[in-house]
Amino acid sequence: MREYIVAIDQGTTSTRAIVFTHRGRAVSVAQVEHEQIFPQPGWVEHDAREIWHNTQQVLDQAVDAAGLAAGDIAAIGITNQRETVVVWDRLTGVPVAPAIVWQDTRTQGRVDELAADGGVRRFAHTTGLPLATYFSATKIAEILDTVPNARARAEAAELLAGTIDSWLVWNLTGGPQGGVHVTDVTNASRTLLMDLETLQWGPELCEHLQVPLGILPVIRSSSEVYGEVTIASSVTGVPIAGILGDQQAATFGQAAFSAGESKNTYGTGNFLLVSTGEEIVRSRHGLLTTVGYQLAGRPAHYALEGSVAVTGSLVQWLRDNLGIIASSAEVEALAASVPDNGDVYIVPAFSGLYAPYWRPDARGVITGLTRFATKAHIARAALEAVAFQTRDIIDAITAETGVAIPELRVDGGMVSNELLMQFQADILGIPVVRPVSAETTALGAAYAAGLAVGVWDTLDELRAQWHEGARWEPAMTSADRTRLMTQWAKAVERTLNWA
Ligand SMILES: Nc1ncnc2c1ncn2[C@@H]1O[C@H](COP(=O)(O)OP(=O)(O)OP(=O)(O)O)[C@@H](O)[C@H]1O
Ligand SMILES: [Mg+2]
Repeated sequence: MREYIVAIDQGTTSTRAIVFTHRGRAVSVAQVEHEQIFPQPGWVEHDAREIWHNTQQVLDQAVDAAGLAAGDIAAIGITNQRETVVVWDRLTGVPVAPAIVWQDTRTQGRVDELAADGGVRRFAHTTGLPLATYFSATKIAEILDTVPNARARAEAAELLAGTIDSWLVWNLTGGPQGGVHVTDVTNASRTLLMDLETLQWGPELCEHLQVPLGILPVIRSSSEVYGEVTIASSVTGVPIAGILGDQQAATFGQAAFSAGESKNTYGTGNFLLVSTGEEIVRSRHGLLTTVGYQLAGRPAHYALEGSVAVTGSLVQWLRDNLGIIASSAEVEALAASVPDNGDVYIVPAFSGLYAPYWRPDARGVITGLTRFATKAHIARAALEAVAFQTRDIIDAITAETGVAIPELRVDGGMVSNELLMQFQADILGIPVVRPVSAETTALGAAYAAGLAVGVWDTLDELRAQWHEGARWEPAMTSADRTRLMTQWAKAVERTLNWA
């Protein structure tokens, strides 16, 4: 019987495939990292072909490791790093340029030009997003204008463009031989090209942002059969039945389906989403309005999102650029070797500051240095920066909704860090709660796919599968909390007006 679901989690740093049972339990995992390409300051690229090869590899490995065959698998769900774009040749399947990754800031000039007429909130009412390099549209336009002939070839319908979900589905369903060109509403809601109300590409948006509508995928719900895998693999013939952007997938995997429910994911960056149900809430406090999920034939569910660009990647920076730790996990012991931050603060504004500030002119700082400061204080300041940034987002959400979040559901690679989780609870003054299954991103994609093919019938069944794994209670005095947040705010000030 077909009772297993395979999730592909194509992330910023790695690609995972996880096989889940109908109880939501992972039975096998395969993971491969891909190269992070930094050709110039502010530029971040991936090789889309490498990502596609890694996807095939982890799919085969995970299915083999579980001892399964295609006939055991009910559906495949895909979740992906969002906003990152690929433009490729419809006939050969070859990308015309490296994928431009969400963190890439090379399109700031385009953003400034567009914002000169109407400001950065020019398209915010329609799209839920401010104009920023973060989102897909200016990245697609950049490729079309810098690769010789690309714009003409796009106008002639010789090229296709999409986010990573589209790239993978097209390849899995045959590529040049009949590949299906689709995306889901959550990914589309990150491009600056989709109208939040109609859930369709906006012709005027495409015109202003200089992206030909004809190269874009068809927008579908997050949970329906888009096509079957036709390439030769361990999953040939299996339907692809769920697509969710990674942060929406984590929200779905945390069973935060209803208005007011939320989660915070600690990965490369941090992303806090709070559901607003079927209501579109337009932010006045620096949050994004985004699609949370849409089940087939049902109204879309929306969310407010606080996006923080640099959290886990700051730990990677300590490891790779400063060399003060050998692995990400080592940061915890190093930070714990000192009792406090020694008044050192790091604001990792490597790509400017995202929510709630949206300051592209900001750049990173380490402040409060004295001869007393050691690498241990730097490590501690890095972890604290993650928690302070989350506090800024929670404050914006409280200001926006007027409702305090009672406790924070967390997931992602950094939540194994106990020091960080305790400090997070301390600095928020609310409990932090981690579910048993920390692989919520992949689980959410599996849920979306399984719902589409009848492995599950209701959201309540999925809700019943959520179980608390660990909890951290706040233990800091409010005086200490206030002092730390005051210093943090001063440190943030020092990043501004730099670039
Ligand atoms: N024990 C730890 N303490 C602090 N940070 C950690 C720890 N373990 C992992 N990390 C950080 O967590 C991040 C990886 O988490 P995760 O795999 O959830 O990231 P991600 O954003 O989902 O990545 P991707 O986009 O590739 O899926 C890395 O940036 C890593 O530095
Ligand atoms: Mg991830």
